[in-house]
Amino acid sequence: MAIPYQHRPVMAGEVVEYLNPAPGKVFVDATLGGGGHAEKLKSKNSKIRIYGFDQDAEAIAAAKARLAEYQNIAYIHDNFANIKEHVKEKVNGILFDLGVSSFQIDEASRGFSLQKDGPLDMRMDRGQKLTAADIVNNYTADELTRIFTEYGEERFAKRISNAICEMRNAKMIETTFQLKEIIEKAIPTWKKRESVTRIFQALRIAVNHELDSLQRAIGDAIELLKPGGRLVVISYHSLEDRIVKQRFRDGAKNGRLKLLTKKPRLAAEAELAENPRARGAKLRAAEKI
Ligand SMILES: C[S@@+](CC[C@H](N)C(=O)[O-])C[C@H]1O[C@@H](n2cnc3c(N)ncnc32)[C@H](O)[C@@H]1O
Repeated sequence: MAIPYQHRPVMAGEVVEYLNPAPGKVFVDATLGGGGHAEKLKSKNSKIRIYGFDQDAEAIAAAKARLAEYQNIAYIHDNFANIKEHVKEKVNGILFDLGVSSFQIDEASRGFSLQKDGPLDMRMDRGQKLTAADIVNNYTADELTRIFTEYGEERFAKRISNAICEMRNAKMIETTFQLKEIIEKAIPTWKKRESVTRIFQALRIAVNHELDSLQRAIGDAIELLKPGGRLVVISYHSLEDRIVKQRFRDGAKNGRLKLLTKKPRLAAEAELAENPRARGAKLRAAEKI
């Protein structure tokens, strides 16, 4: 039986407000996921066209099912870093809703969850070779420390990578709960939860080359916009948001972008009460000049 794809689009009202879907406009949803934002745009105006990207084949399948009643959606199973290979026209708006979806997190076999035991996988694109287990079991202690420090901003990075190396000498580390236990044993009692979260975040970023893809895609996205076209990015951790903030600032300085959000917009209280995923979300929007 298919697993129901439950993902509530974050800050959907704000996304529709900035992108303003009017008849004939063309949009790129760079992170289609379950199709939640695309559905909001289409239901506001079905006479728009959408290029929808996701590097996860299961997300593409789920989005197709959710959007079955709508025409003029191109489904593209690829990394958004390759946006220019697929979109050969200038567009009116581009959305990035970064990170992983609720579905990916909730599905234990994907290895993203802190709550459910699963294989140390963490690939968004299951066609990719590198998994979190490869990193944890094969990278040197120094490489692990760098990943945990740079992508997790974890102050106990060295202790944790040493503990991992010690453990894997005895036995391969294969599951998320094994890794969680190693982290928890390696560090002081009061920091356990935060450290586990940060190490999982760091591994996910490294497995999926998330920051490199984002850097590349944002520049290309700005080029793909028509004058007056809008770029909307929702990010969920400070490393992503820093990149977006910097690229937007550079765009404003060199006269290519007008910033529509001086400070990032956060989800309203009412949304936070209903959708815990919206917590920590930061939305930035800019317009091509
Ligand atoms: C937060 S979810 C998007 C949810 C979607 N906006 C919705 O409302 O259903 C992020 C999605 O982006 C995909 N994704 C993340 N990074 C990607 C990348 N570099 N290229 C393509 N897809 C990516 C993930 O696989 C995931 O399905």
